[in-house]
Amino acid sequence: MQALHERDRWSAAQRDEQLLVLGVTPKLAKTDGRINASGACMPQNTWWKHGIVYQIYPRSFQDSNADGIGDLEGIRRRLDYIAGLGVNAVWISPIFPSPMADFGYDIADYCGVEPIFGTLEDFDRLIGEVHARGLKMILDFVPNHTSDRHAWFAESRASRDNPKRDWYIWRDGKPDGSPPNNWISNFGGSAWQWDETTGQYYYHAFLKEQPDLNWRNPEVRAAMHDALRFWLKRGVDGFRVDVIWHLMKDPELRDNPPDPNYKPDRPEIDSLLQVHSNGHDDIYAIVNGMRRVLEEFDERVLIGEIYLPVERLVTYYGTEELPGAHLPFNFQLIFASWTAPALARMIEDYESHLPDSGWPNWVLGNHDQKRIAARIGQNQARVAAMLLLTLRGTPTMYYGDEIGMTSVDIPPEAVQDPWEKNEPGLGFNRDPQRTPMQWDDTSYAGFSTAKPWLPVSPLYHEQNVEALSGDGSSILNLYRKLIASRRKHRALSIGSFKLLHGEGNLLSYERQHENERLMVFLNLGETEIEARLPENRTGTVIVSTYGEPQAEQVPNTFTLRPHEGVVVSE
Ligand code: NOJ
Repeated sequence: MQALHERDRWSAAQRDEQLLVLGVTPKLAKTDGRINASGACMPQNTWWKHGIVYQIYPRSFQDSNADGIGDLEGIRRRLDYIAGLGVNAVWISPIFPSPMADFGYDIADYCGVEPIFGTLEDFDRLIGEVHARGLKMILDFVPNHTSDRHAWFAESRASRDNPKRDWYIWRDGKPDGSPPNNWISNFGGSAWQWDETTGQYYYHAFLKEQPDLNWRNPEVRAAMHDALRFWLKRGVDGFRVDVIWHLMKDPELRDNPPDPNYKPDRPEIDSLLQVHSNGHDDIYAIVNGMRRVLEEFDERVLIGEIYLPVERLVTYYGTEELPGAHLPFNFQLIFASWTAPALARMIEDYESHLPDSGWPNWVLGNHDQKRIAARIGQNQARVAAMLLLTLRGTPTMYYGDEIGMTSVDIPPEAVQDPWEKNEPGLGFNRDPQRTPMQWDDTSYAGFSTAKPWLPVSPLYHEQNVEALSGDGSSILNLYRKLIASRRKHRALSIGSFKLLHGEGNLLSYERQHENERLMVFLNLGETEIEARLPENRTGTVIVSTYGEPQAEQVPNTFTLRPHEGVVVSE
């Protein structure tokens, strides 16, 4: 595809815009012969299949200019650490100009860098050094909404006949003046904001400072595709696309039905079933449009942020005719009950739903969800690390999980998260999982020399990269060993998956590639349990969550210590 002449590329894109408008499924051209429309011919060693993604929340990774907020130069200075972990790609949460109403998920310019984070030159230097280390860089793309300070929205709200009016979703109120429908914002309250100047409401699925774009408008699609191209041309290796399933709403904007199971201790958004406000069937052509833009370039990855049940999630892989995301994010580990039977069922269920050409992926945490160590405790966080890094499918790690970072208490006066400010006290504050990375034992954990934007964990004196690096049995060194094993053993990175056992406290499975067979045994409980290798096999422990294995050679039946996980080779 890259060989295509610029002019041909544009005419292909324009043709497909036309087809989309006409409701016709665009047929995909063959790309460069290695990658076909469905991804079915993609070699198993495509980087995003065998690689590991490491998410950085840029405000909290490393501050380089003493303003208490992380930045691009800070990330650059920590690249040796990241490369040393052995991961293959960094995904950086939004770095674009933003008033920060939702900490970067409210973008005021898709083709720039927020001054708090640095400059475009800083970005170019960073990506150069990322690539020089053999790493890939994934950016966040936030296409569902802009900031209300984006120039497009300023135009759109200026008058009803402004050429950009239809770039956003404007509607009259009902005859009694109330909002056009009952849709609720993800951060609470009506999703419609009255605009005095033009006497209409605009729709915002999140904050009122985040008006939703109208993706049914071809000019919006073209502008957003160009924003993707801007970064792809700068060498970006892929995108994690924010709330991708939200892009297409019911064209008639029908009311959402109430959820009969709603309890008031849940966020207000949960009081309605989100059947009309997102995930309309037209979404697949939109996702395909982005995929096609990425396929103008070599080996780029499209990751979709999607919170949907597995049978709907997998539809975002698309079809051979209309390929979608390479990796629709699979968040099931975040919500799973942490028991062997529940995990076993969940893994098998996910595997069985995957389309033939769909490559799996697993996520343990992110900037929106309670940290894994806070959810299941430090002991099981090690087991979770082993699970994440030995399952079949691309793993995504969240910065700081590798040192066991846990939820940090945020005093009311320090709260930053707009969701917590809108719906306080429900337990959905996202600040506790966004606190500064803990590098060393110096003030502010080596994150900054100034007071950070969120408090540093009081545990940082012991729980920091420097201290844990020197401790052979630390969670950090466990992560390093697991990652090294995944890189070394193709059975782990691209091998097949077979469940062996998922009862009581034991979860075990086998990974196989060609002649290599590895088995993983995880004790999800706090007492010793017995584990058995299949048939009459015996094996060698290559990693234990304890650091040192009890014994390197294991007989057919062996004991797992409390909370112990082991990877065993035949
Ligand atoms: C999902 C992002 O991960 C979250 O942080 C953000 O608040 C919403 N999308 C809105 O962009």
